[in-house]
Amino acid sequence: AHAFQELDQHYLDAAVTDGQRLIQKMSMTIDDFRNFFRPDKQSIRFNLHTIIQETLQLVDASLKNHGIAVTLHVDKAAAVQGYPNEYSQVLLNILTNAKDAIVESGVNHGRIDIGLNVAENMAAVTVADNGGGVPSGILEKIFDPYFTTKEKGTGIGLYMSKMIIENNMKGTLRADNVDHGAVFSIACPIAKNPQKALHE
Ligand SMILES: Nc1ncnc2c1ncn2[C@@H]1O[C@H](COP(=O)(O)OP(=O)(O)OP(=O)(O)O)[C@@H](O)[C@H]1O
Ligand SMILES: [Mg+2]
Repeated sequence: AHAFQELDQHYLDAAVTDGQRLIQKMSMTIDDFRNFFRPDKQSIRFNLHTIIQETLQLVDASLKNHGIAVTLHVDKAAAVQGYPNEYSQVLLNILTNAKDAIVESGVNHGRIDIGLNVAENMAAVTVADNGGGVPSGILEKIFDPYFTTKEKGTGIGLYMSKMIIENNMKGTLRADNVDHGAVFSIACPIAKNPQKALHE
C-alpha cells in the first residue's frame, strides 16, 4: 500500500507541475493578446543589438542546460521603429522553437547562430539552428494559427510573431531550411531619425 501511495504522490506532483506550467503559459498568451490589441501603446525607436542581448538573457540558462551553444554576429548598429516588447516576444518564440527542435532531434552539439545583417534600408535578424529543419510539407503551414507538431504546443507562437512583424513593425518574417536545420529571418525597415532619438 505504501508503494502505491508513493506512486500516487509522484503522479500527483508531476500532474500539478505540468498543470501549473500550462496555466502560466496560457496566462502569458492571454497577456500577449491583451497587449497586442491595446490601442494606446507607444511606438518607439530601439536598438536591435540591445534587444537581442536582452532577450538572450531570458533563455540563456535554459539553452545552457540543454548544452546548446549560442553565437551572435552583429554587422553594425541598427535601430528600428516599433514595439520592443513585442519584438522581444518574437525573438523569444523563435529561440524557444530552435531549442525545441534541437532537443527533439537529439543532435549532440546543439547550436543557435544569431546574425544581425544591416543593409541600406533594412535590418535583418537571422536565427539559425541545427535541429534538423522544418519537416518537408509543413513549411507553408507553420505560420498558420494553431498549427503545431508539439504535444503541448499552442501553435500560436509563429502566427503571432508574423502578425507583429508584418503589421506592427512593417517588416517580414520568413522561414527556410538550410543544411542541418532551419533559419528564421526577421527583416524590418531601419529607423533613421537621429533628431527624434534625442528626445527619447
Ligand atoms: N526551428 C524550427 N525547427 C523545426 N521546426 C520548427 C521550428 N520552428 C517552428 N517549427 C515548427 O513550426 C510549428 C509551429 O511553431 P509555433 O511556434 O507557431 O508553435 P509551437 O512552438 O508548436 O507552439 P508554442 O509556440 O505554443 O509552444 C512547430 O510546432 C514546429 O513543428
Ligand atoms: Mg513556438
